[in-house]
Amino acid sequence: MILDLDTGIDDALAIAYALGSSEVDLIGISSEYGNVLTERSVVNSQQILHLLGHPEIPVYLGAGHSTTTNDFSVLPISVEIHGQDGVGEIHLTEPHPEMATESAVDFILRACQEYGADLSIVATGPMTNLALAIQKDLPTLKKVGQIVIMGGALTVGGNVSPFAEANINQDPEAADLLFKSGLPVTMVGLDVTLRTLFTRTDTAEWRAFGTPAAQAYANMVDYYIKAYEVTSPHLHGCALHDPLAVAVAIDPSLVTTFPLNLKTEVEGPSRGRTIGDNARLDDPTTRTAVCVQVDTPRFLSEFKKRIGQL
Ligand code: BDR
Ligand code: CA
Repeated sequence: MILDLDTGIDDALAIAYALGSSEVDLIGISSEYGNVLTERSVVNSQQILHLLGHPEIPVYLGAGHSTTTNDFSVLPISVEIHGQDGVGEIHLTEPHPEMATESAVDFILRACQEYGADLSIVATGPMTNLALAIQKDLPTLKKVGQIVIMGGALTVGGNVSPFAEANINQDPEAADLLFKSGLPVTMVGLDVTLRTLFTRTDTAEWRAFGTPAAQAYANMVDYYIKAYEVTSPHLHGCALHDPLAVAVAIDPSLVTTFPLNLKTEVEGPSRGRTIGDNARLDDPTTRTAVCVQVDTPRFLSEFKKRIGQL
């Protein structure tokens, strides 16, 4: 598995889920901008890997901004939810090595060549690295087994605008390219992630494990829950967006999917919306599976079991 992350708090949970899963061999992390700048995303991933006892897993520098802008800024809402450092201001002090010299896009393409159908790419930031890989070498990317993304919303509204989910909103053109590429994509969007909530009771249980990793994670997630209490008080917890994408890549039976040829709207007030592509509704080669239902109790139980091992 490759994780493509803009390492904020739930991306850090995605790393933990992958490392806590015996089915997964995490071969590397590619970085995205989004919750933080891409360089910070690299350091956050490295420090989390170190905290979880896997400093040997390489982290690659990826895109620093969207495919259509030169904007390196971090959105205020991202700082509000994930903190200035992206990991809930917990001030990780774990050492971090030099980052890998190969680019994220070249790493992704090399892995597709090497592992083919055995490779899963789980992307939980903007789709920019994937779009750059599509532009560079789509035939090689097509060797991948599956691409599971956290992003978008089909049956519910957005979380940064009435239409757009944050990861898609960062680079709608990149997401549009991905949906129209013919690659096998599973979309784990807000339709399902907003139904997987973690509460302060859960983090208290976690803290009681007493290990440094459990305490750091409990502090990080309490910060995330506090932000949700301000931005989404009706939810009573924080959404486990990014770890759900990892879980679905490992066990698709956790969700019910709807096959649809998607597009991303790139113009006007609905920019960033993921919706069926009228021009391809009857195209039989449907390549996107949109998750519309999730077995929340089973996912939460798997989440606690796997994370609890770290
Ligand atoms: C997504 O946006 C990011 O802020 C989170 O890490 C998650 O990947 C939720 O919309
Ligand atoms: Ca993310």
